[in-house]
Amino acid sequence: MFIIFMIGCLVSSTYALDGADVVLSCSFVEEGGGMMGGMGGGGLFSRTPATLVLRDLPVDPDSDSALDSVTPFDPPEKPSADDLIFEVKGSSVEIPDADTLLHADCNEQEVNCEISHYIPRGSDPDAPPSHFIGSLQVEGGGISLTMVLQVLTNEEAASETLPLIQSKLELPLSQSGTLLTEVVFVVFSRSPSLSTPLGGDAQLDCGFRQRNSSHVGGLGLEWRLQHRGSGRKVLEMTKVEEGEEAGAGPTVSAGRDGASVDPALAVEEGNVSMSLTKLKVVDEGTYICTVTSGMFQTQQIVQLHIDQPPIVSLSEEMVVFQDEPAQRLSCHCKSYYPLDVQVEWLSLSSSEAEPIEISDGASLSSHRQHSDGTYSVTAQLTLRLSAHPPGTTVTCRVAHQALSAEVDVSTTVRLAPETDDNLYAIIVSLLVVIVGTVFFYQVMGGTN
Ligand SMILES: *[C@@H]1O[C@H](CO)[C@@H](O)[C@H](O)[C@H]1NC(C)=O
Ligand SMILES: *[C@@H]1O[C@H](CO)[C@@H](O)[C@H](O)[C@H]1NC(C)=O
Repeated sequence: MFIIFMIGCLVSSTYALDGADVVLSCSFVEEGGGMMGGMGGGGLFSRTPATLVLRDLPVDPDSDSALDSVTPFDPPEKPSADDLIFEVKGSSVEIPDADTLLHADCNEQEVNCEISHYIPRGSDPDAPPSHFIGSLQVEGGGISLTMVLQVLTNEEAASETLPLIQSKLELPLSQSGTLLTEVVFVVFSRSPSLSTPLGGDAQLDCGFRQRNSSHVGGLGLEWRLQHRGSGRKVLEMTKVEEGEEAGAGPTVSAGRDGASVDPALAVEEGNVSMSLTKLKVVDEGTYICTVTSGMFQTQQIVQLHIDQPPIVSLSEEMVVFQDEPAQRLSCHCKSYYPLDVQVEWLSLSSSEAEPIEISDGASLSSHRQHSDGTYSVTAQLTLRLSAHPPGTTVTCRVAHQALSAEVDVSTTVRLAPETDDNLYAIIVSLLVVIVGTVFFYQVMGGTN
């Protein structure tokens, strides 16, 4: 029966009377893979296939017909104690952007889903599991959610048949073989990954939703930056108790100039997004938004990438050949980030229809890093008149992830005009005559 959830679409949904159901294939993750065939070693995680069913998500009645074609959630015909089906009943806590989960098409947008045991702050870790944490990420830049699920006490338990007990969790299942839960706390980000140019501003999106009753114990926020193995606190908002006077509201302390959170938005709307101004390369990394509310604390990750396109220029506006057989041409790519840049040389002579790539005589300098963290590189090309006759257009083409399209800079190969040549010859002969004459008189004078 369980196989049905695992194959085919990762996401399926159906209209119920007052909303739609979303069925997600998930992994139930546990620490210590001791049971996994003796692979040994501590600290491993074991994964068990699981299903998350979000019931009765509100549907926008005007939404498109794509939802019509999907199959409904059917509870297993014969409930099994080995199935791990987490069923989330219409909760008092709103699941933000639930419709994006409904629309995440099974072929184009996957939803990563992991569920694990959650121990609320201050509760007994050895007590039977009462909470789980589910993290969902819509791939390709969609919403990312971390939700705390609280196990509902089974009302059906009082019925004549004894409830099935889930074999792994040792918790009673509903009549249809699912573990009934309710969302009590959600931390989410609508843009878990963003790119910004140097010097720009960014808003790292993070928000939370909670049950009214979970205010007790106060609200706290911390933003940390984790990059290349080191971490630092970027911002902290002190805990604020519900009912505190507005004047005595939360204080925000920032560990970086230009980092800010609006405390009023945080308290009133659950919006703990952090603004950063004048971004530098050192601001790049993984930001962790940790929201603490009463007994719950969870996190959301926002990736910030710095994306700065190169400034591209050529050493010569025009390549003019005199008598020399070869000339050097340089293409400078300045102040870009990140490091990866592709430079290629193309030539288009009057006899060709399409530009062709030049590989002979091309070389790349090593990357230089500036104090602001950006990079520069110079590509060099040795041009030979024999290979690139006058009239040939030589192009340096640069590709970089911060550029929406490749950048081309071009120059043309020319021969020095004849007249200049004659003038040059005259000047040279005149010089020879003058120098020769002076030398002759000096020699003659010396012998006298
Ligand atoms: C927070 O507020 C900003 C500005 O109004 C908005 O752009 C953003 O979407 C909000 N984020 C959340 C998580 O509510
Ligand atoms: C939560 O509190 C608000 C006002 O404080 C109230 O309007 C709302 O009905 C409450 N919701 C629940 C689920 O208790």
